Amino acid sequence: MSNAILRAEGVYSGYGRGDIISDVNISVDRASITTIIGPNGAGKSTFIKTVAGVVRRRAGRILIDGYDVSGMSPSDVSRHAVAYVPQERNIFRSLTVMENLEMGAWIEPRKFDSRVARVLDLFPALNALKVVRAGNLSGGQRQMVAFGMALMVEPKLLLLDEPSAGLSPVMVEQMFAVIQQVRESGIAIMMVEQNAIQALRVSDVGAVMSAGRVAMIGSASELLGDREVAELYLGTRT
Ligand SMILES: Nc1ncnc2c1ncn2[C@@H]1O[C@H](COP(=O)(O)OP(=O)(O)OP(=O)(O)O)[C@@H](O)[C@H]1O
Ligand SMILES: [Mg+2]
Repeated sequence: MSNAILRAEGVYSGYGRGDIISDVNISVDRASITTIIGPNGAGKSTFIKTVAGVVRRRAGRILIDGYDVSGMSPSDVSRHAVAYVPQERNIFRSLTVMENLEMGAWIEPRKFDSRVARVLDLFPALNALKVVRAGNLSGGQRQMVAFGMALMVEPKLLLLDEPSAGLSPVMVEQMFAVIQQVRESGIAIMMVEQNAIQALRVSDVGAVMSAGRVAMIGSASELLGDREVAELYLGTRT
């Protein structure tokens, strides 16, 4: 059995005419963390959305645990134990925190109780906010709810689009600590991040996307140590 939970092979996708991402090849191993970095507009979100089935792939194959999910709808992809947390609009603002978590358990509602206990364990701050409408939460609290909702699916692969965006420095650290805990529980994570250095420090694999292609992929420590990557993408210039 292959150790890959995700294999993207020669994936192309886009919105109108022309492709946004071209020939993307990325594999993610079980219980590992992969971080994708790269400039704005490089196609990072488009790639994650394509894996989640939100954007249709035009060519290539996407395999989840060996199953070809290319062309499946987002709900069918999530039945293969994939959870996706979008960059924006990732919670139901008019619902309470608990109602949001319930939405995450839609595939197996009977498992709600055990899973919610696990989510509250990872994000203890949510305990006091159970009946608060998500629209009234701070940015950091909303990210916890979005993350928690994704974990309610009990995914094998978690797709996170900029999980630390808009968080205070302390919250950013907490977010990456939780991401590591989630990996330790056996879940693989593929995330896009602008906090590139911090994200790569907790990652196994790093990839640079540029103009819709994978410009570089290697171990996270390799990327952290690469001078060109540091100058162009890690914000360590001057
Ligand atoms: N729904 C859409 N319809 C048409 N074009 C889109 C759509 N979403 C994104 N694009 C275009 O696709 C390109 C890649 O966008 P994408 O959001 O994937 O980049 P990104 O690498 O995630 O950027 P960022 O770092 O800013 O989040 C951009 O040129 C963007 O304008
Ligand atoms: Mg993006």
